[in-house]
Amino acid sequence: MALNIIVGTQWGDEGKGRVVDLLAAEADYVARYNGGDNAGHTVTVGDQTFKLHLIPSGVIHPHTIGIIGNGLVVNPKVLLEEIEITRASGVEITPERLRISHAAHVITPAYLALDKAREQSRGDEKIGTTLRGIGPAYNHKAARSGLRMETMLSLEDFAEAVAAQIEGVNEVLINLYETEPLDTLEIAKEYVGYAQELAPYIENVSSLLTEALRSGENVLAEGAQGTLLDIDHGTYPYVTSSNPTAAGALVGLGLGVGHVGRVIGVTKAFQTRVGEGPFPTEVFGETAQQLRGTGDKPWDEFGTTTGRPRRVGWLDAVLLRYAVQINGITELTITKLDVLSGLDTLYICTGYQADGETHHDLPLGPTDLDYEPEYEELPGWEADEADIMGTRKWGGLPQAAQAYIQRIEELAGTPIRLISVGPEREQVIEIE
Ligand code: IMP
Repeated sequence: MALNIIVGTQWGDEGKGRVVDLLAAEADYVARYNGGDNAGHTVTVGDQTFKLHLIPSGVIHPHTIGIIGNGLVVNPKVLLEEIEITRASGVEITPERLRISHAAHVITPAYLALDKAREQSRGDEKIGTTLRGIGPAYNHKAARSGLRMETMLSLEDFAEAVAAQIEGVNEVLINLYETEPLDTLEIAKEYVGYAQELAPYIENVSSLLTEALRSGENVLAEGAQGTLLDIDHGTYPYVTSSNPTAAGALVGLGLGVGHVGRVIGVTKAFQTRVGEGPFPTEVFGETAQQLRGTGDKPWDEFGTTTGRPRRVGWLDAVLLRYAVQINGITELTITKLDVLSGLDTLYICTGYQADGETHHDLPLGPTDLDYEPEYEELPGWEADEADIMGTRKWGGLPQAAQAYIQRIEELAGTPIRLISVGPEREQVIEIE
């Protein structure tokens, strides 16, 4: 019936995977629309934890069909490995259950080598990328010299195109970055093998999904990364190279604007970031340790893709309001409320101070965030005051937790419909 879009409101890692998993119960198609294997979506079902990078996390529900949209850049090696791992966990992934857009772009080792060389050459100015070749792949796409999945349908053409690309990038690696060239023939041979395996998955997913929507089926679009990493609307240049914002779902799946139903913004109860770039509400020391966790649990704040410890901080309501604006968010989900249990005082950034004045909005967007945050203090709740992780009802939350959520809702100007209080599928509170 409608296209519902799930979008991260922060710098990614908001816990979108588990929200997708919940909403996928009512979807016929679950579709990734941006990014590549820089993303990492963790979903816990019973004693199983799935860490997915390219396959849409909603495919864990056996009734859904997964879609990889034209907005993605796909590393075929990573995708095939992920298909194997997911199958081994008991989730059936076949060409009937996973469709890949003919217009998605292909990541080759040339892009991985370029990503690494560029980061090294930036020195102190580095972005802190995931080194998955994402930037160079979108770079070539925009320069109209990329490789699309559809080329895999003719093995001879594909082998030639891969070889030509590696040759071209080798020139840059040798002459500009003074690094070792890649083995063209070896890679072309390897990639022909991937093309043979992936060819049955390739389709025009724009037509497939449009037809599905017209016949009354539901499509759930899964954003990767988050609003503040958007190439156009994020903390440029410390961003990724795609459009994680809601409008990216339309371009990245080839769908018309009129199909959009709900736009669900996912916000962590605090703020995190991996990689470089501004972070006005960042905290360090003991509070940071509590927010981050130790890394023992799969949902602690360590990168799913790179394992890097995430930077952590207080919730920034100025940036949240901005995300609501840019995405046209119709409702919010707050994740990881349980992590705040036991902190005496909670802080929400409600404005930025500059030149003796307080700003509640961002005149030029989030590019320049070199401000002193202005905080509102709210009381915390004792770790054992109520079993937050065991609570399934709004009324079961401690008063202070209810007040915290209500204040976020007021500041964002958008209803909060769902709160997650633990990593398990059922650890959520739905608000009527
Ligand atoms: P790239 O997407 O690998 O080029 O990295 C660009 C920036 O986006 C870096 O700061 C990465 O840490 C960040 N980034 C990319 N993907 C994710 C993600 O899925 N979660 C959080 N940060 C990400």
